[in-house]
Amino acid sequence: MSFRLAPLGRTDLARCAELETVLFPGDDPWRESAFRAELAAGHHYVGAYTDGGLVGYAGLSVRGPRGGAEANVHTIGVDPRWQGQGIGRALLRALLARADEFDAPVYLEVRTDNAAAIGLYEAHGFTRIGMRRRYYWPSGADAYTMARPAHVAEEAT
Ligand SMILES: CC(C)(COP(=O)(O)OP(=O)(O)OC[C@H]1O[C@@H](n2cnc3c(N)ncnc32)[C@H](O)[C@@H]1OP(=O)(O)O)[C@@H](O)C(=O)NCCC(=O)NCCS
Repeated sequence: MSFRLAPLGRTDLARCAELETVLFPGDDPWRESAFRAELAAGHHYVGAYTDGGLVGYAGLSVRGPRGGAEANVHTIGVDPRWQGQGIGRALLRALLARADEFDAPVYLEVRTDNAAAIGLYEAHGFTRIGMRRRYYWPSGADAYTMARPAHVAEEAT
């Protein structure tokens, strides 16, 4: 099994929307237009590709100047046929590398019943900092807010 990461392209967005319907069936999956708006806003999107095409995607926003910036994970998803093989971890690490360039703390919301995603985030320095009741629509599921502190680059001495 091999995959590579690359910036998500406009031609991938229909496939992303297709995966969303599989990955988030009860929670208002994003349409292609939503992904298009994310790219147009300049957010950082990465795709995971095998020889057969796109099998995962992830997106992050960074707001504010370096040193005072804040990052948010907007989405991350892996084709169920490709889960459990390190692709989610690679995608998340690509987002975190971007946040670290800005020394930005990273925030996200995750369903409280999503053990796989929570496990992935906890393994990368995220902790639960709050709970948002009925955050997801239309399922009405609750979310944890999770945060990872800023990685502050050490000054060269
Ligand atoms: C969450 C998701 C992106 C993980 O992607 P993945 O490619 O399957 O994950 P990986 O194979 O890279 O696993 C990385 C880590 O995630 C955690 N993890 C993955 N699957 C897990 C599971 N079923 N149960 C518990 N932890 C799990 C583990 O910490 C794992 O590390 P380990 O293998 O060293 O134990 C994937 O399950 C997914 O797309 N889920 C549906 C969409 C979703 O819920 N997105 C997150 C929204 S907040």
